[in-house]
Amino acid sequence: MAARLFQFGAGKPTEESKEVKKIVPVKMELSDNTFNELRNFIYDQCGIYYTDNKKYLLEGRIAKRISTNKLSSFEEYLNFLRSPMGRNELNELFDAITINETYFFRAPQQFEAFETHIVPEILSTRQNLFNPVFRIWSAAASTGEEAYTLAMIVAEKLRPMYPRVQFQILASDINKSVLEQAQQGVYKEYSIRNVPPHLLKKYFKQQGTNYVLSDEIKQMVKFMNINLYDAQQMRTVANCDVIFCCNVLIYFDMPSKQQVVTHLYNSLNKGGYLFIGYSESLHGISKAFKLVHFPKAMAYQKE
Ligand SMILES: C[S@@+](CC[C@H](N)C(=O)[O-])C[C@H]1O[C@@H](n2cnc3c(N)ncnc32)[C@H](O)[C@@H]1O
Repeated sequence: MAARLFQFGAGKPTEESKEVKKIVPVKMELSDNTFNELRNFIYDQCGIYYTDNKKYLLEGRIAKRISTNKLSSFEEYLNFLRSPMGRNELNELFDAITINETYFFRAPQQFEAFETHIVPEILSTRQNLFNPVFRIWSAAASTGEEAYTLAMIVAEKLRPMYPRVQFQILASDINKSVLEQAQQGVYKEYSIRNVPPHLLKKYFKQQGTNYVLSDEIKQMVKFMNINLYDAQQMRTVANCDVIFCCNVLIYFDMPSKQQVVTHLYNSLNKGGYLFIGYSESLHGISKAFKLVHFPKAMAYQKE
């Protein structure tokens, strides 16, 4: 196969290059064998499975990590990842290989089912509690738009309706850099395009091409770095009433989907609901949930 990638910074060492680092382009090729080893490594760490037709994607994303680490081949990078020195590189790898597309009010029908059916149903069983808590988890939150959408719904609709209830919102992701962006709460036009105008006016301040989210909404969401595939990390989240785990199962294969969905099931309260992406389904993945149809959306309930 023809080599397609070039890296700068490494070359055959000469006496001269020991003194002055010469920038020499070096051809790098991801062989089928190394691709297999890399994808198995990634799969074991986070459940994401790169199919053969996604090899070019992995190649491009990892090439950048190779040059940042001043290495010169995919084989060296794999050895680095496997070595104790490469432990911190794992987070960088996750940041490089994940796809983080998201925006506010991405799934309006799901939010409507959440607000008008699920919350009233669950809270009707907690009327006699002194301090009722309602826990919501955006489990592959990316840059935070889904979690902050939920926070706006809570601030606008749910808190006035249920003033005694403490609504807790957790947002998590495997990718640390998107979580940092989420905590800053600064967005571009692309992210806010579906925000209703009155909420845009109330909760965002425009600064040039940026839309800065208000502290009031930011403070309602707690962020955590959680790998959905990691049983130990997943056990740190429990007693959720609703989990949004949208548009991430598509990156897993069947066994890793099953593992992740089992973790999510364990994190839910009995009677709690799981939302997944519109194009995703639990068909063949889990029989533990009951599929519930709302007027415009579906969700999976833990019975
Ligand atoms: C396409 S975004 C979806 C964002 C949001 N849920 C939505 O639907 O708009 C997928 C997110 O899943 C995260 N992700 C991928 N694998 C993960 C894993 N094993 N554990 C936790 N998050 C993961 C990615 O980092 C990315 O931010």
